[in-house]
Order: sequence, then C-alpha cells, then structure tokens
Amino acid sequence: MSERPLAGRTVALCVAGGIAAYKAVVVARLLVQAGARVLPLMTASGARFVGKITLSGVCGEGVVDDMWDPKFAGEAHVAIADRADAVAIVPCTADLLARLAQGRADDLVAALALVARTPLILAPAMHPRMWAHPATRRNVAIVAADGRATLVGPVHGEVANGDVGFGRMSEPEAIFAAIVEAIGAIGVQAIGVEAIGRGADLAGKHVVVSAGPTVEDLDPVRFLGNRSTGKMGFAVAAAAAARGARVTLVTGPVSLPTPAGVERVDVRGALEMGAALDRALGDQLADADALVMAAAVSDWRPRERSPHKTKKGAEGTLTLELVKNPDLLAGVGARRGERARPVLVGFAVETDDLLGYARRKRAEKKVDLVVGNLAAHGFGGDDDEVVIVGDGTERPLRASKRAIADAILDEIAARLA
Ligand code: CTP
Repeated sequence: MSERPLAGRTVALCVAGGIAAYKAVVVARLLVQAGARVLPLMTASGARFVGKITLSGVCGEGVVDDMWDPKFAGEAHVAIADRADAVAIVPCTADLLARLAQGRADDLVAALALVARTPLILAPAMHPRMWAHPATRRNVAIVAADGRATLVGPVHGEVANGDVGFGRMSEPEAIFAAIVEAIGAIGVQAIGVEAIGRGADLAGKHVVVSAGPTVEDLDPVRFLGNRSTGKMGFAVAAAAAARGARVTLVTGPVSLPTPAGVERVDVRGALEMGAALDRALGDQLADADALVMAAAVSDWRPRERSPHKTKKGAEGTLTLELVKNPDLLAGVGARRGERARPVLVGFAVETDDLLGYARRKRAEKKVDLVVGNLAAHGFGGDDDEVVIVGDGTERPLRASKRAIADAILDEIAARLA
C-alpha cells in the first residue's frame, strides 16, 4: 500500500453515542495520515462522548452536527454525501442501526446514510446483550440484506463495563483498513463492491481458516515445504471478516499482511497447525461455526529433526526418512460425525482427474465441500479456476481468489442460516 493511499479522497466520519466513540478519533487520525480529507459529523449523543474540539482538531475541519446548519441551506446531508468518497459510522450504536434499518432520516447522520451513494462502513459497538437481542439481529439482517453497508465487527472481547462477548468495536486499524478497502484506494475496487453486496451475513459466527504451507524442519536451517503462498486462505479470512464473522486464521509461514479484523496464529509444521486448530475449534468442536482448510498441509515430516545443521559430508547422496502426518481435516471430519457444525470445507489441489479426486476427498474426509483446483492454476496468482464440490453439486468458478472466497462463504452462510 502506498503511504498516502487516500490522497485526494474524502471520508465523512460520523461519530454516534457510545463509549467506543473515543476510538473514532484514532480512526480520524489514521485517515488524515493516509492523506484523506475527513469531514467529521456527530449525532447529538456522539457529542456527549467525545469533544468537538478534539475531533475537529484532528481532522482540521469543523464538526457538523446540525441538520439545519445555515451554511448548507437545509441540505447538509446532500452536500456532504456529494463530497464524500465514503461514509463511515464509528461507532454505530444499536439505536443508529435500528434507524438505518428503518431508513429514517431523523438526524444528520441517518439522513446522510440514506442519501449517500458511496460505500457505507458501519463499526457497530454495543453491550453484547444488545448485539444479541432479537431486535438488533433483525436490524442487522435488514441492513445486510439491503446490500448498502459493510459492517466491520463487532468483535468478541471485553466491553466498557468489563463484560465479555460480541459487541466490542473493531480496533481503529481494522476500521481504517475497511474504509481504505471500500474506497478501493489500493486498486482492489472489486473487493469493496463484493463485500458490500453481502453485508454482515456472518455476524456472530466464528470462522476458522487455515492457510499457507506447512513446513517441516529438518534442522535449524532446512525444511520441507510446498509452493502454497497463502493467498486463497487469506482471501477467505478477509472476506469472512468483512462479512462480520469473528475469524481465526491459522497460517504457515507466508509473506502476506494480516487482513483487517482477523486474529492470526502463526505456525510451522503440520502438528503445530493441528494443535492451533484444536484450540480454535474447542472441545467437541463447539467453538467454531465453520472450518475452511485452505492450508497445503504437508503429508510427511522427517522422522528426526537434527538440533544442529546437517553437514554435507563425503557421501554423494542423502536419505531422509519421513513419517506420515495426521490428516487434520479428516480428523475433524471424523470427530464431527453426523453433526451439522462446524461446516467443513477442504481443498484439493490435483494435477489430473480433478472432479474424481475432489469427490473422493469429500467423502473420505467427511466434509461438506471440497474446493478443487488444478496445480497449474492455483499457486501464487490473484485469480483461480476451481470447482466447488458439494453433496451431488458441482459449481465451476473462474474468478479472483476474493470472489471465490465469497462464493465459498455463501455456501457456508446458507448452511448456517
Ligand atoms: N489436509 C489436512 N491434513 C493433511 C493433508 C491435507 O488437513 N495432512 C487437508 C488440506 O488442508 C486440504 C485437504 O486436506 O483441505 C486436501 O489436501 P490435499 O493435499 O489435496 O490432499 P491429501 O488428502 O493430502 O491427498 P493427496 O496429497 O494424496 O492428494
């Protein structure tokens, strides 16, 4: 990403009334540092939580909090919408979500959200019981179905009064990243558009994703690895987070940045990956709603790992003895048995008979879906050609890895609905 990815862009940053409002100041700062012009707005209750002077000082713009500000001749919401490349509501309270679901225009922020045609990024924050309440669930579902907004979070964690659950606002960096992504300022416009179309259909779900290669150390210097770059798994993790899920990403060594709002666990070998997945899935697999195994798990590891660098010696050959790694996905499939959750998705990289192997792996590993691709297509690129194999279904797809990720998540969301 360039250092000022938002140069020339304008973001309307709306602060609603919740304790998390103080973090909106940090979001404003990140946007300004990235080169954006930030137009700060506040609801009446937002102004109770953070000082106007603070916000306008950070943004270098006066705070607009009055629909009837004479400067705009009664059209403040339209004038601001026309200037902004994105509208972000940070934090988005339960009350504001309810008003957005109803399409109300009873204050400046709601009216702006209604009239804006640009990406709308919402960072919900509220007590976990408010987030879990059927009324809020309904409102989130309506806002998601409208397909106009990207929800970032909330995430699982501690809220202001010390209670723990889903409701804590995403961190400013994650919200900032979602705004950058939605605007398309890093040359990935399609990502924002795709994410916006889905809304927050995975809100409240925990999706565990594995990615990248596993590497099996031979000695402190050498390892056995494979050509996986992690792009597919990272795309799934990013897409799931953009759709509101809590995401745990267990990854082998890759050189990719952690997607916004994703909890990342770095591992090396297959056994270490297995242990990290077990922790994320929990006892009885009860802590996760879905597992997407995009990692290229090494089938073999050396029987012995030398604590010292192996010397080349005088011999012209070297024989390595390898032992089989457990099949992590098949292990989870067997433990799940007849239960419907977590939804299990595997991958199959093949050089021939793609459909045959994908179908067989689906049955043998007792998983819901296998995403098959040919080794010649998949590694390293941003696009891929896959077939998503389900129970008697086959969906071929040639698209960006992000779009494929969303197609996989569509299947998962349908099974979790
Ligand atoms: N997988 C796993 N543990 C392993 C090997 C593979 O969990 N030890 C998972 C991968 O993450 C992937 C799926 O199983 O989701 C299929 O992986 P793949 O390497 O294509 O298949 P294998 O079962 O290893 O079969 P083979 O290498 O013989 O084709």
